[in-house]
Amino acid sequence: MNSSNTSRMREAIRESFIYKRLQGPIFNLKGYMFDLYHGVKTMPQVTLDELEIDSPNKKGGGIYAGTEPKYFRTVMDSLDIDFSRFHFIDFGSGMGRALLLAADYPFRKITGIEFSTELHEIAEKNIRSYTRRKRACNDLESVCEDATTYALPREPSVYYLFNPFNRELFGSVIRSFERSLAEDPRDAYVIYMNPVNDDLFVDSPAFEPLDRGPWHSVHVARRGE
Ligand SMILES: C[S@@+](CC[C@H](N)C(=O)[O-])C[C@H]1O[C@@H](n2cnc3c(N)ncnc32)[C@H](O)[C@@H]1O
Repeated sequence: MNSSNTSRMREAIRESFIYKRLQGPIFNLKGYMFDLYHGVKTMPQVTLDELEIDSPNKKGGGIYAGTEPKYFRTVMDSLDIDFSRFHFIDFGSGMGRALLLAADYPFRKITGIEFSTELHEIAEKNIRSYTRRKRACNDLESVCEDATTYALPREPSVYYLFNPFNRELFGSVIRSFERSLAEDPRDAYVIYMNPVNDDLFVDSPAFEPLDRGPWHSVHVARRGE
């Protein structure tokens, strides 16, 4: 079977009724298996109503759900970069699953920003206990603050967002990336999982599209002509 037939078949499976019914339970099962295997806690999904969060942006935040490891690796493996030059920053890092997955890549540093103290404390515990022989980055931290006002480090970065906020907040964060890159041009990538508001990048002065899949988009900072 050639690759276009394979991708058509995958698309048909994704659109099927059975797949849609099973998607949630399979996603949960994979999450619990990840936790069991690595001795961490990145499950279950949590709605923000269940958490005490001291931020006016609480109502603009989505639920907590950890990134699906397979999708994460597919996107990371497609990035043609020297990881050791880059700071990986997860905006809305929850219990830290994406941080742990990023530690399989030799990033210079990995930072997660999460505004729920409860989720942040679980992430810190996970960082301490994550067991993986192949861990390639050991400089990991979870920071408890509002990701929409995080001061961006002026260094080559991979900004990771697993659909953390509503359209309005997402738009304001993208505009803050653009301002920062205009002031200090540097290499930067945005990885956007579940990219429901991807159109906010259209006509962006700072980013151009690099890759797009069913579950993600990647945008790269434009370099001067
Ligand atoms: C879909 S989860 C993603 C978790 C993690 N990035 C991962 O991929 O495993 C989104 C997270 O964003 C957090 N969040 C939403 N709005 C936020 C804000 N303004 N500042 C910091 N965290 C926020 C939520 O609490 C939730 O944990």
